[in-house]
Amino acid sequence: MAKAKIAILISGAGTNMAALLYAAKHPDCPYEIVLVASNNPQAEGLKIAAAEGIETFAQSHEHIDRAVHDAMMHDRIVHAGATHVALAGYMRILSEAFVEKWEGRMLNIHPSLLPRYKGLNTHQSAIDAGDQVAGCSVHLVTAELDSGSVLGQIEVAIVEGDTADILAARVKMAEHQLYPRVLAEYVSRAIDPAWLTAKVRELALAQPESDEVTSHGMPCFGIIGGKKFAYVSLDHHGDGKTALLVKISGAEEQAMLIDSDEERYYRPAYFGDGWIGIRLDLGDTDWDHMGEWLAKSWRAVAPKKLTKLMDVAGEF
Ligand code: GAR
Repeated sequence: MAKAKIAILISGAGTNMAALLYAAKHPDCPYEIVLVASNNPQAEGLKIAAAEGIETFAQSHEHIDRAVHDAMMHDRIVHAGATHVALAGYMRILSEAFVEKWEGRMLNIHPSLLPRYKGLNTHQSAIDAGDQVAGCSVHLVTAELDSGSVLGQIEVAIVEGDTADILAARVKMAEHQLYPRVLAEYVSRAIDPAWLTAKVRELALAQPESDEVTSHGMPCFGIIGGKKFAYVSLDHHGDGKTALLVKISGAEEQAMLIDSDEERYYRPAYFGDGWIGIRLDLGDTDWDHMGEWLAKSWRAVAPKKLTKLMDVAGEF
């Protein structure tokens, strides 16, 4: 199975970067590190990465417009062939354009139990608030600071007499456990047939009057007592693919789609011209787009009385 390719962005010591890098040395780790980049040419972590034979890149952000600096980082990340970005103590606010380009494929580690204590001074804030536990979180990065979906957390008990520094050092140990595990889970689920099937199921069953049956061993979604509008193809006849099959208008659309992206779209065997196969296991599936495909496919097979009802509902 192909490994996810990770670019790690750091600004300082890079101990989380090192934790990710050492975890990636295990043969079963589902990711590999392809780049360690920094906005701080003096970052200690760059030396560690270079000594491990990892490509490094440093570009100070000083005297450069944020958008331009982010674009330079983005170019290097793409050039290194990265599929995902892991922020590990990257102390820069990212431009919206950068975040948008990596949405759903960029994670961050933060030293608090989010949503508590976003931003800086997290440990002192936890101590000052009289909290019993502090901790760390790995979350998806969205335009709003430290606010994307939390993917995993570890709680760390606050010990009487803890200073912010002592607590920070203990939380870091937890960070080093958490980040490699969550990153591995996250990149794996994007190609895990069971997880992909569950995602399709959720979107397909959200279509009106739809149900699920098994057809030729495939999870298959249709209108209750009516026609089928989607199949999940799971290693069908040993083709190794996990894909969504949906209705299209015919041979012309099928050829056009395959032509537009030969890796993603294919003609599903035994289904003819009226269907298209869309690979779900490439690691970058756009689920909003899959929802649109399913709605369109549902519409193509739904009886008039149902689509009319939907049209009327849509007017309100
Ligand atoms: C880590 O504690 C990380 O959680 C924190 O910076 C430190 C970097 O340490 N990140 C943030 O505060 C982001 N808001 P490291 O360079 O040794 O990994």
